[in-house]
Amino acid sequence: MNKSVRKAVIAGNWKMNMTPSEAEKLVNELKPMVEGKNGCDIVVCVPFVDIATVVNAVKGTNVKVGAQNVHFKKNGAYTGEISADMLKECGVEYVVIGHSERRQYFGETDETVNLRLKAALDAGITPILCVGEVLTEREQDVTAEVVARQTKIALLDVDADAVKNVIIAYEPVWAIGTGKTATSDQADEVCGIIRDVLAAKYGKDVAEAVTIQYGGSMKPDNAAELLSKYHVDGGLIGGASLKAADFTAIVDAAQ
Ligand code: 13P
Repeated sequence: MNKSVRKAVIAGNWKMNMTPSEAEKLVNELKPMVEGKNGCDIVVCVPFVDIATVVNAVKGTNVKVGAQNVHFKKNGAYTGEISADMLKECGVEYVVIGHSERRQYFGETDETVNLRLKAALDAGITPILCVGEVLTEREQDVTAEVVARQTKIALLDVDADAVKNVIIAYEPVWAIGTGKTATSDQADEVCGIIRDVLAAKYGKDVAEAVTIQYGGSMKPDNAAELLSKYHVDGGLIGGASLKAADFTAIVDAAQ
């Protein structure tokens, strides 16, 4: 199988950074720097309040917009929540689901991750499903079990046609925001384990078509090595996505 059947996706996760005016400045800087770089899809996942500004700023460019979470109900009495239809109408094409920071600080579970993922798919938004082990799980050598469980539960009741529209991001929690990157072999191994889980459920052809990213301290100086690995089809980038030059350098590594 040739890895080039899969489109690489470089996505920035801005997390809780950038006011609307700061967001506008950053994307306006980024747009000309990534113009014409079509070897990968380029996405910025921005805070909810930045969506309108950023969608407007990137119109007609190769930069696409994602959100960082979505509620699983269509509408109703859920104060403070945002539905998939709301995101869709605002021009959102991607949404991060089950990021470890949401699992860790906001009580996100595998079950609610599954509900959110299905809500995104139903609305025609591409979910970026995050899975990954914490440090103690890696030390106890249960990484494979952890990511397999997270992946399987997240994809409950998702059929083979739908899963082709899902991006999975392997983000070892110990590598997020720590400057400690997984080695390219570690990243490739776990992305491969995730692909095996997909193959067992959907068959090899479907599994080979799914984009699996690596995330966790991906930077200009390690991106090319990580992205060269067979199972690593892109990156979900936190800190380095807040600087146009760094994010562009990662986009360049994916060309
Ligand atoms: P860092 O790139 O800052 O480690 O963050 C990774 C991440 O959590 C992306 O979702």
